[in-house]
Amino acid sequence: MTKTLLLLPGDGIGPEAMAEVEKLIDVLNAEESAGFETDRGLVGGSAYDAHGAAISEEDMAKAMAADAVLFGAVGGPKWDDVPYDVRPEAGLLRLRKDMELFANLRPAICYPALASASSLRPEVVEGLDILIVRELTGGVYFGEPKEIVDLGNGQKRGIDTQVYDTFEIERIAGVAFELARTRGNKVCSMEKRNVMKSGVLWNEVVTATHKANYSDVELTHMLADAGGMQLVRWPKQFDVIVTDNLFGDMLSDVAAMLTGSLGMLPSASLGAPDPKTGKRKALYEPVHGSAPDIAGQGAANPIAMIASFAMCLRYSFEMVEQADRLERAIAAVLDSGIRTGDIMAEGARQVGTVEMGDAIIAQYRELAG
Ligand code: NAD
Ligand code: IPM
Ligand code: MN
Repeated sequence: MTKTLLLLPGDGIGPEAMAEVEKLIDVLNAEESAGFETDRGLVGGSAYDAHGAAISEEDMAKAMAADAVLFGAVGGPKWDDVPYDVRPEAGLLRLRKDMELFANLRPAICYPALASASSLRPEVVEGLDILIVRELTGGVYFGEPKEIVDLGNGQKRGIDTQVYDTFEIERIAGVAFELARTRGNKVCSMEKRNVMKSGVLWNEVVTATHKANYSDVELTHMLADAGGMQLVRWPKQFDVIVTDNLFGDMLSDVAAMLTGSLGMLPSASLGAPDPKTGKRKALYEPVHGSAPDIAGQGAANPIAMIASFAMCLRYSFEMVEQADRLERAIAAVLDSGIRTGDIMAEGARQVGTVEMGDAIIAQYRELAG
């Protein structure tokens, strides 16, 4: 059966990282008859340069039709001054909203070989395996009104609106509880109910969802600011963290540094299963951005992108064996002592994007026997 993949490499280091995944797709097709059919599109600044929009209608339609979308990264200083509605980041936000990708899974795993690459002490991060479940289509990212109003007295007012409805909280909480059952069976929900009405509702709905359907899972609540502090103080206390769109954005960048680098963190953005086919719309994206400071140098760490592809194999195609093997290949390559610059350590050998990708692919093939 063919599996359709839309590749949206984007800007900056996006295409550099995506090229390593394309090599892997070729290997899977040639050696394991995986049957991937790939198509490509433009998103972000590259789409703006070509079409004056952060994603064209044609590419949007391709994304809606594909079995899964692989997304690189968007943005960069070249597009700092383009109008707000067509800025590169708007392409990613439109994909998330139109594909209804409400559940963003951001696992943060500290590979043993990288415990010393974190800015925290090795014993704080060694063996870390947490999952941030970020709500992705609601909250202050999309709430209306969202505008800058001219008050006419020389003052302007910038307005963003934080809104959550019951069903949005219920469905993301459900995803977090279901996933917790497959791992450490603990969920910590983070909001700011002490100052935000949406936080009060978030807390109520998560508690009620737990009581109704998931009382076998351990549930705790934390104010999101304290949660950020606890993530840095003793991250291993967490298993699954469920939180809103903005807190999830910030907390996942914090979690990235527990693993050594933003260049290590993959993510899966998933929709609800189709009631007829059971299939979910899905987009796989590294947590990092276009890294303008190192773009074009062949220095980017491709692991976040490659690990995002592993999530794609697992969640969109049920290729669990291949996903596990790819994750083991990443760990083995890190054990072997090669590193991109962002995770460089004493005694390791520094390599570029292509060499890191090649090493992971070689290891993957070896593990495949
Ligand atoms: P960034 O993630 O692009 O970079 C932050 C730092 O991490 C930089 O020093 C960068 O070199 C480093 N880094 C990130 N990924 C790396 C990798 N794979 N290998 C090695 N080092 C890596 O964040 P930023 O600098 O705040 O944002 C740059 C642009 O990217 C902005 O336009 C922002 O809006 C955009 N952005 C896009 C996405 C996305 O496309 N999903 C995510 C975050 C930021
Ligand atoms: C992320 C990014 C995006 C976000 C931007 C680029 C729109 O920071 O995926 O973490 O804020 O969600
Ligand atoms: Mn972010």
